[in-house]
Amino acid sequence: MTGFVSFVGSGPGDPELLTLKAVDRLRRADAVLFDDLSSGPILDYAREEADLVGVGKRAGRMSPRQHHVSRLLVDYAAAGQRVVRLKSGDSGLFGRLEEEIIALREAGVAYEIIPGIPSAVAAAAAAGISLTRRMTARRVQFVTGHDVSGGLPDDLDIAALSDPRACTVVFMGKRTFPKLAALLIDNGLPPDTPAVLAESVSTPEQTLFRNTVTGLSERLSAEIGDKPALILYGPLANEESSND
Ligand SMILES: C[S@@+](CC[C@H](N)C(=O)[O-])C[C@H]1O[C@@H](n2cnc3c(N)ncnc32)[C@H](O)[C@@H]1O
Repeated sequence: MTGFVSFVGSGPGDPELLTLKAVDRLRRADAVLFDDLSSGPILDYAREEADLVGVGKRAGRMSPRQHHVSRLLVDYAAAGQRVVRLKSGDSGLFGRLEEEIIALREAGVAYEIIPGIPSAVAAAAAAGISLTRRMTARRVQFVTGHDVSGGLPDDLDIAALSDPRACTVVFMGKRTFPKLAALLIDNGLPPDTPAVLAESVSTPEQTLFRNTVTGLSERLSAEIGDKPALILYGPLANEESSND
């Protein structure tokens, strides 16, 4: 008998931000393969008998290689198990979803994808920010600040990222933001563009630091800490701003 894989977006960390479908699939799973940011109280929805397998990066140890994770998925499904592959936020955003889908297709394993609340959307909500603003931010862009070697990707569209009329969210960008900020300012982004550093969004450790692109760059040059974080910048509206 062939099993089935549900890719489930777990949202940013608060279990109340799981979708009803996510909870349903967790309750029915024989095995849950989870990333580090999809752990904690979210896993309480899995059955006691389910195999809970951490496949994410942990402090002090390397993450399992991607092909090993794909292999595990295929093996559990081939054993007839109902598998949940839990990924933080939405699985289709910077989550290596495609590699795992390809492995399942090659092995003839059926799957579904259940969307989750992206951390970027949860960060904007936590900061009271509207990602789009009539007249001033008609465009939103999500970008990674980190390539496979941990550096700033060298193929970023700096002109688009310097657009003062777009709201930009940088994932995995704390270490490289000072370099990115210098490139943006060289390309015309005003240094006093509002920026927010949103860490561990929706968890008890959540912190929000509101400043400017320059101020954030200076702070991150001095200290980055180890919490997962997003950087939002652009013509950010928040609850203190007037409506336009
Ligand atoms: C591998 S990516 C996965 C993104 C995820 N698929 C999503 O939709 O949010 C991991 C990065 O997402 C961001 N992230 C995920 N959860 C977060 C949270 N609760 N608070 C802040 N940033 C978060 C951080 O930039 C983190 O390094």
